[in-house]
Amino acid sequence: MDGLRDPMCICGQVANLCLRTGNDVDNPQRLAEHGFVVANTIELSRPLVGSDEVAAVTRVLLSGQLAGGPEVAQFEEEFAGYCGAAHGIAVGNGTVALELGLRALGIGPGDEVVVPSFTFIATANAVRMVGATPVFADIDPATMCLSPATVEPRLTTATKAVIAVHLFGHPAPCDMLDELCKAHGCVLLEDAAQALGARWHDRHVGTFGALGTFSFYPTKAVTTGEGGMVITDDDELAQRLRLLRNHGAAARHHHTTVGTNQRMSDIAAAMGRVQLTKLEAHNRARRALAARYHEVLHPVVDVPTTAPGALHAYHQYTIRVANRERMCAALERAGVGYGLYYPRPCHLQPSFAPQARLAVTEGAARRVLSIPIRPDLSPADCDTVVQAVLDGAR
Ligand SMILES: Cc1ncc(COP(=O)(O)O)c(C=O)c1O
Repeated sequence: MDGLRDPMCICGQVANLCLRTGNDVDNPQRLAEHGFVVANTIELSRPLVGSDEVAAVTRVLLSGQLAGGPEVAQFEEEFAGYCGAAHGIAVGNGTVALELGLRALGIGPGDEVVVPSFTFIATANAVRMVGATPVFADIDPATMCLSPATVEPRLTTATKAVIAVHLFGHPAPCDMLDELCKAHGCVLLEDAAQALGARWHDRHVGTFGALGTFSFYPTKAVTTGEGGMVITDDDELAQRLRLLRNHGAAARHHHTTVGTNQRMSDIAAAMGRVQLTKLEAHNRARRALAARYHEVLHPVVDVPTTAPGALHAYHQYTIRVANRERMCAALERAGVGYGLYYPRPCHLQPSFAPQARLAVTEGAARRVLSIPIRPDLSPADCDTVVQAVLDGAR
């Protein structure tokens, strides 16, 4: 089952339900009998977890090998193969994927790393966690991602890396950013947490820089509950990452460097493997919804643009509106879930020292609003969302 019409999509209660229904998880009537109520709102996102994932996780549970088994290596190989990278290194989450990536590249105190401010705080926090200094760059007004024009003025002699974020599923122009980094003598990392399946000129995001990172949090296109992945073509970097995530252990009882435990469990990996098989179908469904939204909404609100050469993954469908309060009220009246990503950019967060103002970022933060673009959204729900946005824009 591809998960689009899988009643287990009201998940969070999978194991419980299996116990209570005797694994009869694909039957809507049984779900209702067991008291599972689908919320009356059109949720912004929810994990699409079905009986295939339940079976895979159950298989691992019954195998007795919950960690250190074959599932993690298989997931890594399948994931890297899907993206077209030589190595996949599975870790505990997308934040730590970035943090270990920076550490593996030797970035630390005294180093500057250029990052967008218009991103989830994890991108900047990872830089702080390795002791380096995040330097915030503004975004391109059309794509809301970094561009060479916004990064270049931020480069200094202390810059060791740039982290491009493929925001909302739209690829940043990584070939150009990588060229800029190489010319400056620093490295590009790609934070592709929101963009699994997105391509830039037919090449998967995450494969342009020294490494790319992904998140498998429940709102993401592939989820393992919590989880993350680093991909790279660099054999030595991959080896360092494998050491860092496992206490620096080159062999049992032999620790060649200081590391931590950020391994993925076989339970999570088994779930991720199933999720990965559904990704392309889910992303196609997201793009079809985006086309529908675009057609109807572009005369009334700023719809997301797609740069030439980009294949958007539509992790979010983020519109920009003049009167966000009015739009929020209309969506709430219609029972449509929405998200504000991100109302306060990183450079204005109290956890960071006062920074230079970023005009495009701050403008976007005031106007953005994300509406549901779940692959399982029904045509009727899609119509409800469209109508609510039209009402809110009036
Ligand atoms: C752009 C970006 N980077 C990093 C992360 C961190 O991933 P995780 O929540 O798995 O730590 C996220 C998660 O939302 C994200 O959106």
